[in-house]
Amino acid sequence: MRTLVSNIKTIVGARRDAPKRLCGEEMQHLPTLNDAWLLIENGRFADFGSMSDLASRHLAADTEIDAAGGMVLPSWCDPHTHIVYAGSREGEFTDKIRGMSYEEIARRGGGILNSADLLHTCSEDYLYDMAVERAMEMMRKGTGCIEIKSGYGLNTADELKMLRVIRRMKETLPVHIVATFLGAHAVGRGYTMEQYVRLLIDEMIPEVGRQQLADYIDVFCDVGFFSPADTARILEAGAHWGLRPKIHADELASSGGTEVGTAHHALSVDHLERLSDAQIQVLKDSETMPTALPGTSFFLNMPFAPARKMIEAGLGLALASDYNPGSTPSGDMKFVVSLACIKMRLLPEEAVNAATLNAAYAMGAEEEYGSITPGKTANFFITSQIPSVSFIPYAYTSPIIKRVFLRGQEI
Ligand code: NIG
Ligand code: FE
Repeated sequence: MRTLVSNIKTIVGARRDAPKRLCGEEMQHLPTLNDAWLLIENGRFADFGSMSDLASRHLAADTEIDAAGGMVLPSWCDPHTHIVYAGSREGEFTDKIRGMSYEEIARRGGGILNSADLLHTCSEDYLYDMAVERAMEMMRKGTGCIEIKSGYGLNTADELKMLRVIRRMKETLPVHIVATFLGAHAVGRGYTMEQYVRLLIDEMIPEVGRQQLADYIDVFCDVGFFSPADTARILEAGAHWGLRPKIHADELASSGGTEVGTAHHALSVDHLERLSDAQIQVLKDSETMPTALPGTSFFLNMPFAPARKMIEAGLGLALASDYNPGSTPSGDMKFVVSLACIKMRLLPEEAVNAATLNAAYAMGAEEEYGSITPGKTANFFITSQIPSVSFIPYAYTSPIIKRVFLRGQEI
């Protein structure tokens, strides 16, 4: 099955050989090809070239798609979400407007524990249907890879229930999904911290490992949640089952999450709103991808991760939505790219690289996704007629994504 996309104004992220990730100054380099065609074969990118030599190539295709002068981009990759959840939390939204902080709400037993109470009462089918609806909206907005965390179960049965929902999504949706076990999101009701950490280590992690329900393990390592010492114990238990960390770090305070994450070879450390200069040095020469979630800073009115400093120090940077009911009820990666430019001063090229190739790396998917590269899975979108790459973050509410393709098929 061959599909030819013609009349493309610009292919963005056209890389014959894609690197695994981009660091420092490399992030400014976003290769483009103007006035182009793109060939897809059996769900994968096969080739691309200039419209001027299309006739001489005699490409036979089963389907032809006219991009009508729009741009083609690789699908966004979203390496940090919590889209399996039971209900919205707009009550807290108004509490925050009235002046309460995210930490205060959590201390009063709201927040994550609220979501856990609600999830406990919901059937697996209902959770699946709700999460699929969110994933579908993300797909229509151009996202082709989604990492999804558990973490609203907070007891063994409900954590496994969440992970089974994610597994079913993997099996039934055309979008690429990876699963992360986040039992250590908060201390479940009725447990002391030590009892809960023991439950994670002795019961939840071995069960998740045995049933192969997760690809990664996460801990909310921050003040008021899990300490770096407990995080280390939990990550060691996960390593026993081959679960590599992707952790929540340094959101509420510069509290040691980045250090414990890199020491345990985390694939990514995420949030980083309070990342210190010393922690930037810790990330240098590591394989850990720092991942910023500017939608969370926007929604909670918090500082943004020091992205410019990180890139100028030579680090890579990935972007993710953090889509969840408490701190970011949105999975719109185009808006995340805009926020990264407007609030963290990323150049448009840096932001697109951070939301595609580096985001794919942050979920272990860079061999297959994140760029228009022959051999990779054909996840991409076609835009309306836009003047430049910079227009994408600039037009921060315009729905410029017109046609979406996953595994080579239009959705
Ligand atoms: O990434 N920071 C921790 N966890 C989520 C929020 C979860 C919630 O409030 O439901 C986050 O922002
Ligand atoms: Fe999160």
